[in-house]
Order: sequence, then structure tokens, then C-alpha cells
Amino acid sequence: MNRTLVNIIIDLVAALLFLGMIATGYLLRFPLPPGSNKTLTLWGLGRHQWGDIHFWISLGLLTVLIIHLALHWNWIVTVIGKRCNLIKTSQPSLVRSAIWTLGLFIVMCVAFGWLAQRDVKALHQSICSSVSGKDQINTQDHDLHTDEPSTPQANTLGWDDVYPIFATNCLDCHGPQKNLAGFRVDRLEDFFKNNGHASLVTPGQSSQSPLIAIISGKRANMAMAESHKLSETEVSLITTWIDQGAK
Ligand code: HEC
Repeated sequence: MNRTLVNIIIDLVAALLFLGMIATGYLLRFPLPPGSNKTLTLWGLGRHQWGDIHFWISLGLLTVLIIHLALHWNWIVTVIGKRCNLIKTSQPSLVRSAIWTLGLFIVMCVAFGWLAQRDVKALHQSICSSVSGKDQINTQDHDLHTDEPSTPQANTLGWDDVYPIFATNCLDCHGPQKNLAGFRVDRLEDFFKNNGHASLVTPGQSSQSPLIAIISGKRANMAMAESHKLSETEVSLITTWIDQGAK
């Protein structure tokens, strides 16, 4: 293959990768903004997956750019080197300048990586720990309750105990603004409605309640299955709420 053809192919690949980088960068900024990973997908992929694609495209672009520089190294050294007075001889050593450039580049990368590693700081996680703390208390309630059936009313979970879970995880898609599938989590009666199908919740029988399959990710071919999956603690809390009569 002659050299001009190689150059053309390399430049073409670089241009395509560059377009891919702009396109995925746009997706990550606008249609799938930060914080949307759990709630939105585009063509079957979430924000994090698009972020991975963006990363690999940029790595490919970097590789192609390095090949491009290597192919034009002679030109870079003679024209730029001379213009900046870095090179005085008329026959500069290409290998030596390449080693210097590569060395400088590696030193800069290592220094940057080291600085970034050193300066990473952990945030205080007061909000998260207070939420999981509450879950903890509620599951303990549940254990207490099953251990002592003589006081069934004392620790029965109510709507107020489970609603916060639905509010944080479901309200965006099933609330006053968007009510996908005609279902709103802020209307308690929607959990018991049966228009043709079994209602989502059968009080006292979590195993007969389709809601549990949906939120534990067991429902096959569920639309946006990832958005419907809750943590084990949350699922067990809701299971308990249903088994206790879904008050
Ligand atoms: C990112 C948006 C999104 C989130 C968040 C979300 N859902 Fe959905 N949900 C959907 C979509 C899309 C459908 C399917 C709509 C359709 O088929 O028309 C759906 C359907 C449903 C259905 C109907 C299922 C059926 O049998 O057809 C239920 C029930 C439901 N979601 C419950 C929930 C619950 C509970 C949560 C919170 C744990 C939740 N959803 C969170 C988007 C979402």
C-alpha cells in the first residue's frame, strides 16, 4: 500500500472517531444528563454504557492520532522543529526527537495520574447513611413482628413506611407528570386497581402480587427492567408491607 493511501485511511478513521466522540458526548450531556443512569435508556443502553462507548472511542481516536503523528514525524521535526529553533542541523535525528517527545509525554501522563490519585477525597455520606439507617430499623421491626406474633399490630408497616421508596424510585415515570402505563405510585388505589389483569397488590399475599416480581427484576420482558429493580432491603420491606395487609 502506498503511503498516501495509508494517510488517507488513517485520516478517515480519525474523522469518523471524532464524529463518534461528538455524538456520544452530546448524548451524555443532553438526552442522558448526569444522574439519569437509573431512570433513562437510549436504544437499549443507559448513561453508563454510553459513557463506556465514549471512553473507548476517545481511546481509539488517541491511538489513531499517535499513528498520524508518527507517519508525519519527518515533516513535524523538520518544519516545526526548525521554526521553533529546536533543531540546528539540516539532518535531524528522527529517532532521537521521537524518544524525547515520547518520554516527555509519558512523564506528563504519569505526573497527572499521580496528582489525581493523590487528591481524590471521600465525601461525607450523611444522607445515604440516614436513609439506609431507616431501612435497617424497619427490617428490624419486621423481624420483631415475626418473632412475636402475639403483638401483631405494634409493628405493622403502613403506606407511610413504603411510600418514600416509590417516591424516590418510581415517581419520575409514574407520577403526576408522566404516568406511564396509566399507573401512578402517588395514588394508593392504583396498586389495587384490577382492570382486566390481576391487581398489582393482593393484600396479605406477596407471592400473588405482580408488584414483587416487577421490583425484584423477576418479571421477564419488563419494559425498562433496570428502572424497576429495587434493592433487596427495599423489596423485603415492600413484601412485608403486603404480607401485613398493605395498610
Ligand atoms: C424510567 C422510567 C420508569 C421508572 C423509574 C419506573 N417505571 Fe414502571 N414503567 C415504565 C415503562 C416505560 C413502563 C411500560 C409502559 C407501557 O408498557 O406502556 C412501565 C410499566 C410499569 C408497570 C405496568 C406493568 C404492566 O404490567 O404492564 C408498573 C406496575 C410499573 N411500571 C411500576 C413501577 C414501579 C413500582 C416503579 C418503581 C420501583 C417504576 N415502575 C419505575 C417506566 C418506568
